[in-house]
Amino acid sequence: MTITIRGYRPTDQEDLYEVCNRTADAGEDARPRIGDPLLMPILFAGPYAALEPELAYVLDDGGSTAGYLVATADTVQFAHRFRAEWLPGLAGRYPPLGRPARTPAEELVGLLHDPQRMVLPALDRYPAHFHIDLLPDYRGRGYGRALVGHLTADLRTAGVTGVHVGMVTANTAARQFYDRLGFHVIPVPDPGPLTYLGTRLQPREEDTP
Ligand SMILES: CC(C)(COP(=O)(O)OP(=O)(O)OC[C@H]1O[C@@H](n2cnc3c(N)ncnc32)[C@H](O)[C@@H]1OP(=O)(O)O)[C@@H](O)C(=O)NCCC(=O)NCCS
Repeated sequence: MTITIRGYRPTDQEDLYEVCNRTADAGEDARPRIGDPLLMPILFAGPYAALEPELAYVLDDGGSTAGYLVATADTVQFAHRFRAEWLPGLAGRYPPLGRPARTPAEELVGLLHDPQRMVLPALDRYPAHFHIDLLPDYRGRGYGRALVGHLTADLRTAGVTGVHVGMVTANTAARQFYDRLGFHVIPVPDPGPLTYLGTRLQPREEDTP
């Protein structure tokens, strides 16, 4: 069966959420730690696919979803739309805590109500960001590089000048991947558990007037 990278379709949502859960704990299954199987996907996969489907890509292994890359071209606008368009459908199920989080799941609820956390002045020159996750059997075979290649090509065409990713610093495998792709560390004050990496996107000659 041929493995292809294709654009996301709304019918992929269930698979997207499944792959997200199976990979979201620095590449491992997040469900044992988080419990609630909706929290990771509604933060790190669903809103991107819903709000910017043109920048959502699926690794399709003959009808089964083996991985994905979801993105926004404009983090500032994405944070705004997350609050205005995505959160209202979820806030009833996950109301704000009103107190410090006591569990990993509650920490995610806190993130859900704080989309503005994504907007950091240090990232101004890297307005796009993305999340990428592949099931274990599909790693190390060039698909991650290919998915990022699709994204950067589409971002360049759209005139976007830079892209960043916020990765859990403990995820050393992902860090090696981004290093190989030429991403560099973007210094961010108080980054918490994350390391921010980015790359500038020069326009291709054929795109310049
Ligand atoms: C991180 C991830 C997206 C990388 O995709 P991938 O398909 O495995 O990576 P590729 O096969 O395209 O590798 C691209 C380059 O990175 C290198 N690389 C990838 N993973 C690596 C690792 N664990 N250690 C060292 N190098 C690595 C490859 O050797 C390759 O180098 P080359 O092309 O210069 O020879 C994928 O492994 C994954 O989904 N991991 C689990 C979820 C995750 O951590 N997501 C990222 C969260 S920020």
